[in-house]
Amino acid sequence: MIIQTYVPEDKPYVLALWEKCGLCSKLKSPEADIETALKTPNCELAVGKIDEAVMASLLVGFDGHRGWIYYLAVAPDHQSTGRGATLLKWAEEWLKRRDCRRMLFMVEPQNGAALKFYQNLGYERSPMVLFAKPLT
Ligand SMILES: CC(C)(COP(=O)(O)OP(=O)(O)OC[C@H]1O[C@@H](n2cnc3c(N)ncnc32)[C@H](O)[C@@H]1OP(=O)(O)O)[C@@H](O)C(=O)NCCC(=O)NCCS
Repeated sequence: MIIQTYVPEDKPYVLALWEKCGLCSKLKSPEADIETALKTPNCELAVGKIDEAVMASLLVGFDGHRGWIYYLAVAPDHQSTGRGATLLKWAEEWLKRRDCRRMLFMVEPQNGAALKFYQNLGYERSPMVLFAKPLT
């Protein structure tokens, strides 16, 4: 797998990947999320490709205090072969290069597979409670 910065030609494949991986919901627009990420500094949407085909993604950003990741996805037919772990490591290095000292991400409590995945890789479950408010 080659990890590259997203280019506009990747869009339909990334959207299809997120749909297939269950990362789309009625509460957000993946297309708008891509557009916002592309115009935000200190943020990178990366894709994993095999033979030029998009089969994984990850969005990473540093807000000046913490690093956040979103949209980690590996196409179902490529899962369980270490691709997700490779992308996470890539994001850790991306954040370390920016002197970010802590990486955070949110996981839906019902996403048992992702919870096991992160726990297997040594990530700790945070006791912090998340608050949210829509701004649109
Ligand atoms: C979660 C996801 C990114 C994992 O990617 P992946 O490429 O399949 O994971 P890897 O092969 O790199 O696995 C890394 C480790 O996690 C473990 N793991 C992965 N999926 C697991 C599962 N469903 N149950 C238990 N362990 C799991 C692997 O066994 C491996 O551990 P090991 O190194 O000890 O063998 C992928 O399953 C996915 O895209 N899921 C759908 C989208 C999603 O839920 N994204 C996360 C949103 S928070």
